[in-house]
Amino acid sequence: MAFYNTFHTVLVLTLAGVLTAGGYVSPSISHAGGVRAGYETTFTCKSANCIPQCAYSWTLKGRTFNGSALAWTPGGLDSIVRLQCDAFNTESGSSRSIVTIIEVTNPVSVRPSPALSLPVLNQSFILDCTGSFPGLPVLWYKDGQAVAPDASLGLVKHNTSLEFNSLLTSDSGFYQCEATMATLAQSKVISLGYLLSFDHWSVSISGPDTVFPGTQYTFTCKTNCNINVDCSIRWPLRGTILTSTYFSVSRNIVKWIPIVPGMVQNLTCVVENTAFGRFAEVTKAVKIKGSTTSGSEKVRLSGVIQLIFFVGLLFLLDS
Ligand SMILES: *[C@@H]1O[C@H](CO)[C@@H](O)[C@H](O)[C@H]1NC(C)=O
Ligand SMILES: *[C@@H]1O[C@H](CO)[C@@H](O)[C@H](O)[C@H]1NC(C)=O
Ligand SMILES: *[C@@H]1O[C@H](CO)[C@@H](O)[C@H](O)[C@H]1NC(C)=O
Ligand SMILES: *[C@@H]1O[C@H](CO)[C@@H](O)[C@H](O)[C@H]1NC(C)=O
Repeated sequence: MAFYNTFHTVLVLTLAGVLTAGGYVSPSISHAGGVRAGYETTFTCKSANCIPQCAYSWTLKGRTFNGSALAWTPGGLDSIVRLQCDAFNTESGSSRSIVTIIEVTNPVSVRPSPALSLPVLNQSFILDCTGSFPGLPVLWYKDGQAVAPDASLGLVKHNTSLEFNSLLTSDSGFYQCEATMATLAQSKVISLGYLLSFDHWSVSISGPDTVFPGTQYTFTCKTNCNINVDCSIRWPLRGTILTSTYFSVSRNIVKWIPIVPGMVQNLTCVVENTAFGRFAEVTKAVKIKGSTTSGSEKVRLSGVIQLIFFVGLLFLLDS
């Protein structure tokens, strides 16, 4: 597969106005906004060591560029890149460098349509190139090879969808699309992919269906995917309020002490591999025994709100 990263450097020599006496001061790399595949981001390097001036150079993906500013349009293949800036003081001969790790988001992905539908042998199946621009060219790849449409395989709606009339075992593979972005440069972006497979991930939650307030329970999300290798696990709260004096998440295990009797708490476990577009989830409804709430409930609930916020953060960090 070809690389579609377009590089060009803009030479803007920056005279840093700050002089630091002695000591090593790293240059700094700055850029505005998030870094997205298909969109140009300009990185600027500045160093306090550049009096009267520096020659700047950048190292990105094994290539070197000159200038204090670097404009880069990621092509979708990289989700994380290492960017290094070296500032070489032409007068003093001293050099300073800094490395930053950049996370690139990809706005284009291959997803089944309707969402969450699963491929079944001998049945029709549709993949969408989401984030593509209708009317602009879209190409499809299976296991890195261009997809040639035939009688059983249709490209519909400006190639934004790939339609299988009747799935065959030979259709298994890793599908990606390449979209043309509606930017001035019309850069091309290789999407996140979708692994079309007839072996599905199964997912279930083990643990009690009914629980008592004030007791700690353990729920385990069981799946046939290889956790932290093929898939990652998340326990989204889905807007429901989790009332608890204690709640902890460690990968596929949730430990929970319920407090409000009479409530039904849904626990959802999601197993996914976002890079492969694979996903499975299950929800278990857990009934909390008992009926009345005590007078001290309000006080304890205010503590619970903070806990929920904390748990929400845990999910963010986990995912
Ligand atoms: C970058 O600058 C160095 C030193 O001035 C020079 O040798 C090199 O050819 C330049 N590279 C490019 C790609 O302009
Ligand atoms: C799919 O179709 C083929 C031939 O049309 C048949 O032999 C096979 O049993 C079918 N498979 C399923 C899972 O329906
Ligand atoms: C649609 O895909 C076919 C086959 O890859 C390609 O030849 C054609 O140029 C594409 N058309 C557009 C509008 O992207
Ligand atoms: C729990 O899940 C069920 C379906 O599984 C749904 O009907 C119900 O509304 C959910 N309850 C809450 C509080 O989200």
